[in-house]
Amino acid sequence: MKMNLLAACLCVLVISCLPIIECKRELPPFLKVCHRNDPQLNQCIKSSLLDLRPHLANGIPALKVSSLHPLLITRLDISTNDVKLYYTNFTLGPMEQFEINDISADFDKCQILLDFSYPKEQVGQGQYHINGQLLLFHLDSEGWVDVNFTDVRFNAKINCKKIIKNEQEYADFQDIDMKVKIGDFHLNMTDLFKDDPELTRNTVVVFNENSKSLLEEFEGPVSAAIGQIVLQAVQRVFSSFPLDILVPP
Ligand SMILES: *[C@@H]1O[C@H](CO)[C@@H](O)[C@H](O)[C@H]1NC(C)=O
Ligand SMILES: *[C@@H]1O[C@H](CO)[C@@H](O)[C@H](O)[C@H]1NC(C)=O
Ligand SMILES: *[C@@H]1O[C@H](CO)[C@@H](O)[C@H](O)[C@H]1NC(C)=O
Repeated sequence: MKMNLLAACLCVLVISCLPIIECKRELPPFLKVCHRNDPQLNQCIKSSLLDLRPHLANGIPALKVSSLHPLLITRLDISTNDVKLYYTNFTLGPMEQFEINDISADFDKCQILLDFSYPKEQVGQGQYHINGQLLLFHLDSEGWVDVNFTDVRFNAKINCKKIIKNEQEYADFQDIDMKVKIGDFHLNMTDLFKDDPELTRNTVVVFNENSKSLLEEFEGPVSAAIGQIVLQAVQRVFSSFPLDILVPP
């Protein structure tokens, strides 16, 4: 009895000291592991990621990946020079329903290239906060936004550096070059003009009619913001396990 208690305490101690004492953790059994020297590495990663989609829907705690069905983004800032615009508690999904047009990983160069697309409409909802000039409107408001995106596609180049942690080699991902292309959107917003629902409705119509030019205006900030989300997700995965476990030789 005493021994068990002691063992339990030790265990708690070890787990709570994770950054200092590296526990032996295991990859989830459903993850198909690819070998970094496999000539078919890219094909292997592609099929491994495609197989992972149903698990990505719910999130994969062992890899510190949160649910993508939908993905909760606590704050998404897409401000431009003309307008401060950010979303809070924004959900977007089904983000796990991607197709992979291309993927290439090189662990000598420490670089991953991704080309993903979303044939399914992506549905976003949350609070918006806007202050500044958008099209012809001067806006200073916040409210609810409901937006559907079609033909979402992204290209990313993510660079890493190999580092040694606890005598094991890890890939430390440091920067991302991301381009997000959105085919079109359709949105609805509340409270753009607090006391004027009619003007709010008409403004929303104008936004939807000008979706293409708005997409152009926000392409840079959207790419940067989504890039950071992807980079952080990749960082969490690759900081959880050494390279020799994630992509053994
Ligand atoms: C986001 O949602 C959480 C939980 O529902 C809530 O506590 C928080 O205040 C919300 N944040 C904003 C900025 O709406
Ligand atoms: C988004 O699409 C859903 C159905 O997928 C629909 O119910 C909703 O009204 C659409 N929202 C907007 C703002 O177009
Ligand atoms: C937009 O949202 C308002 C408020 O929730 C709602 O009354 C209206 O029906 C919505 N319009 C569309 C086109 O979805």
